[in-house]
Amino acid sequence: MRSAATPAGRRAPRRGPEPRPCSCRDRPLPRRARRTRQARRRRPCAGRRTTVRRCAPALPAPAPVPRRQCSPSTFLWPTPGGRVAHSASPWEVNDVTRAHDDERLADVYQAGNEMPERSLEAWVRFIGSLANGPVTSVLDVGAGTGMFCAAMARWLPVSTAVGVEPSLAMVRCAVPGVHYVAGTAEQLPVASRAFDLALLSRVVHHLPDRRAAAAELVRVLRPGGTVVVRTTFRERLDALVYDYWPRLREIDSRRFPSRDEVVADLTAAGLSLTRETSFAQPVAADLREYRARMATAPLSKFAHLSPAEFADGLARMDRAGSRQPVEERYDVVAFTRRGMEHASART
Ligand SMILES: C[S@@+](CC[C@H](N)C(=O)[O-])C[C@H]1O[C@@H](n2cnc3c(N)ncnc32)[C@H](O)[C@@H]1O
Repeated sequence: MRSAATPAGRRAPRRGPEPRPCSCRDRPLPRRARRTRQARRRRPCAGRRTTVRRCAPALPAPAPVPRRQCSPSTFLWPTPGGRVAHSASPWEVNDVTRAHDDERLADVYQAGNEMPERSLEAWVRFIGSLANGPVTSVLDVGAGTGMFCAAMARWLPVSTAVGVEPSLAMVRCAVPGVHYVAGTAEQLPVASRAFDLALLSRVVHHLPDRRAAAAELVRVLRPGGTVVVRTTFRERLDALVYDYWPRLREIDSRRFPSRDEVVADLTAAGLSLTRETSFAQPVAADLREYRARMATAPLSKFAHLSPAEFADGLARMDRAGSRQPVEERYDVVAFTRRGMEHASART
């Protein structure tokens, strides 16, 4: 659902030509990246101008965002026995973690997706309420900058909150105090039966193998534990961005799974659907505020647009000038790991 004015009578821009040569070497590096040659080498496409898929196109001068001081988040290291332990080890940089690095997106993600503290607290308490019993340990799968992981540690009565994240770039821009392990949903580097609740917030459309991820979730949850998926299902993609960048709707229709696909894969792995809901919530006071946020291109989907398409959408937002709040829809689905009762599983 959305409530801001939409541009009328405009034809959707034609889809651009197929993969354009990568232009990231033409873009100025972020200030931090410029500082070290090592950071320069980390750019995912360095020297490979044909591998466009991992590279964001050169977006027109994004609005400046205050640079978040990258926090000294704690790294947890999976031990041979599978338990996670605090470690001073550097992040494990391997093909998986490197493949997810997108420094441009990481730089703007937190500022572009941050929500008011009250909303974040309400989200976290709601997520906690979906659990099937007491929650003392939570896993934030695809934690990104750790916004939810830190919030769950703060507002839920947990002793353990761990974020799994494959992108070092995201981890470098984390909110303070997040405990991370490097890994993917398909191979969770944590012990079996260790968590009461696993959250996948805006992650399910990134997963290359949802069934493998579902099997891993079953492995790491205690019997009776809960998986919460927070996303927008394909059939309910109605965000305001699609009115200004119509091609994003086509792109997201291919990226985002449907409700039935997610439910089928998770229940097949041994989870039972326990709750589902869908609602729109305000994400910006008005279109001007929303536009300022979108100007930094803080969502991975913007990487699919050409600079001209991106600029055109922003210009149309400028002309629309609606004063109404902008809303975004979320689908939330909760599953319980089948097995023994939650409480007895701990003894
Ligand atoms: C849109 S961000 C969401 C971040 C955070 N959960 C939130 O709600 O703000 C998606 C995150 O999923 C991560 N990701 C991508 N593929 C993944 C995978 N296979 N397993 C786990 N995380 C993945 C990305 O690196 C990125 O940080």
